[in-house]
Amino acid sequence: MIDIHSHLLYDIDDGSQSFESSIAMLEAAEKDGVSSIILSPHFSSGIAEEIQEKIEKLRPKAAKFNIELFSGCEYDFSHLSMQDELITLGGKNKFVLVDFCLPFISHIALNLLFNWQSKGYKIIIAHPERLFCKDDLPVLKDLADANIYFQLNAGSFRGDYGRKVRRFAKTMIKKGLCHFIASDAHSLKDYNGQIPSCRKYIARHYGTDFEKNIFEDNPQKMLAGKL
Ligand SMILES: [Fe+2]
Repeated sequence: MIDIHSHLLYDIDDGSQSFESSIAMLEAAEKDGVSSIILSPHFSSGIAEEIQEKIEKLRPKAAKFNIELFSGCEYDFSHLSMQDELITLGGKNKFVLVDFCLPFISHIALNLLFNWQSKGYKIIIAHPERLFCKDDLPVLKDLADANIYFQLNAGSFRGDYGRKVRRFAKTMIKKGLCHFIASDAHSLKDYNGQIPSCRKYIARHYGTDFEKNIFEDNPQKMLAGKL
């Protein structure tokens, strides 16, 4: 499984706070069946160099757990208007991960997303189930029709963010508005069995083909730039 959203990189944001903690997370991720992780710390100025430097230090440790690491980033929506280019997920494609941060989608926001699309970028919205509700389904459907992708959090299905988020995550799947499920791991607890139990839940309720698509095929195609 390729985990496309993880804060496993150490001492860079509110995720892993130390090299040792990142190693413990890698060990747990391997047990969870994770084979690749896109490290996606929260964006801040100058972060690209720091990500590269820290990934290189962590890569040999990850190899011991048979995990391949890729660079990435999670942008707050407000950062998008201030950049000339964006850090992509995996480096070799044009996918970018964006957290809207606000519980509504304005016309200004839509125009900004479409502007980045016109430059060849492909937008993945991080955990929309945590921000939006069923009144937003029409606009979310419009976004999906405009080739914007949605990544839901595994934790949403076990109720980490409350019952309302859990219910809306399931609604998004039923409406065809889920392209990826990732850990959004900030600490060890987000790998300790969370992904296997989420996969089991998704397979049981939505079928094994869908489960394979979401956890295996779509991330693989995305990394290869072929989604
Ligand atoms: Fe995140």
